[in-house]
Amino acid sequence: MQRRTLVALTLALSSAALPALAQETVKIGLILPMTGPFASTGRQIDAAVKLYLAQNGSTVAGKKVEVILKDDAGVADTTRRIAQELVVNDKVAVLAGFGLTPLAMATAPIATQSKTPMVVMAAATSSITEASPYIVRTSFTLPQVTVGIAEWAAKNKIRKAVTLVTDYGPGIDAEKTFKDRFTLNGGQVVAELRVPLRSPDFAPFLQRVRDSGAEAVFTFVPSGVGSALMKQFAERGLDKAGIKLIATGDVTDDDILNEMGDVALGVVTSHHYSAAHKSAANQKFVQAFGAANKGMRPNFMAVGGYDGMRVIAKAIEATRGKGDGNALLAAMKGQVFESPRGPVLIDAQTRDIVQDVYTRKVERVGGQLWNVEFDTLKAVKDPGKAK
Ligand code: DHB
Repeated sequence: MQRRTLVALTLALSSAALPALAQETVKIGLILPMTGPFASTGRQIDAAVKLYLAQNGSTVAGKKVEVILKDDAGVADTTRRIAQELVVNDKVAVLAGFGLTPLAMATAPIATQSKTPMVVMAAATSSITEASPYIVRTSFTLPQVTVGIAEWAAKNKIRKAVTLVTDYGPGIDAEKTFKDRFTLNGGQVVAELRVPLRSPDFAPFLQRVRDSGAEAVFTFVPSGVGSALMKQFAERGLDKAGIKLIATGDVTDDDILNEMGDVALGVVTSHHYSAAHKSAANQKFVQAFGAANKGMRPNFMAVGGYDGMRVIAKAIEATRGKGDGNALLAAMKGQVFESPRGPVLIDAQTRDIVQDVYTRKVERVGGQLWNVEFDTLKAVKDPGKAK
């Protein structure tokens, strides 16, 4: 009798375990530009996601978290096709990554239709979070980080400026925010220049900056492009002509800052992350990231990926690994934590990140170039949403 009960119990348990087996993993589809002109964004985010899982373990709520990494090469049609496959074939619980605005925009309808949370770790046009109620952002927005440098410029005796931005979503956000704030504080924007996203040649635009009589050029270019801009700025002699370059921190990107050399020294920017951020959490992050990646320095893309993986893992934990899209989304909203960048909040209403924004200056410290933070705007919400 006892033996028969045991056999029955064993049978019941093993058959119950069968359908459960299929759900032993929670899959995350991570879509990044791993090749092409924006591969540095993919490399940084991939490394950061791996670091988060190595530090915190890849078993969450008793489930194995499996990250499926796919390369979209920065092409929006590819991102959308891959997202579709990940949702339909792989049954991922979460879509993540999105290295550029057009890639996030192309995928938003898939997140909405399939009710799959979509964690934007890189792309930074303000309106992205409005493209789907399933989008949560752990990067930043251009309006959020541009206000700081516009105010700094007006307070530091810059009266006339030119804007020079990459001609797509984030650049247009940066251009508009800079002009609005700078003008409000008594400055004047004498020309608004836009350079193409693909294969930009800055030379003719920098010549126009030089001829404009402006005291400063405010710039935004996406991650990885800043060194080409800086090089041409120096080659055209704009620094020697006394024209100040000011920017969002995308330009003095930690991934490439050391390549820029002396022309970058003294450049003032505002942004939400510097690898030089003075906190114990950041020191630990920079050290561990370097140790795991041949000394590579994490940039703001890495932080967006690291925090994005945190937001996903905590949501899986809170929902006990059930993987339901609506429940996961609800558990992502309102998360508050200390990031390597400083304190952050995923605003439950807008699903966008609220964070400190720092004003920084490029300095040489210990033989290397760093964005040294010297001023902080606390808990900045995307101004695009404040309206
Ligand atoms: C975007 C991409 C970047 O590399 C960056 O630094 C900021 C914004 C974007 O496409 O949204």
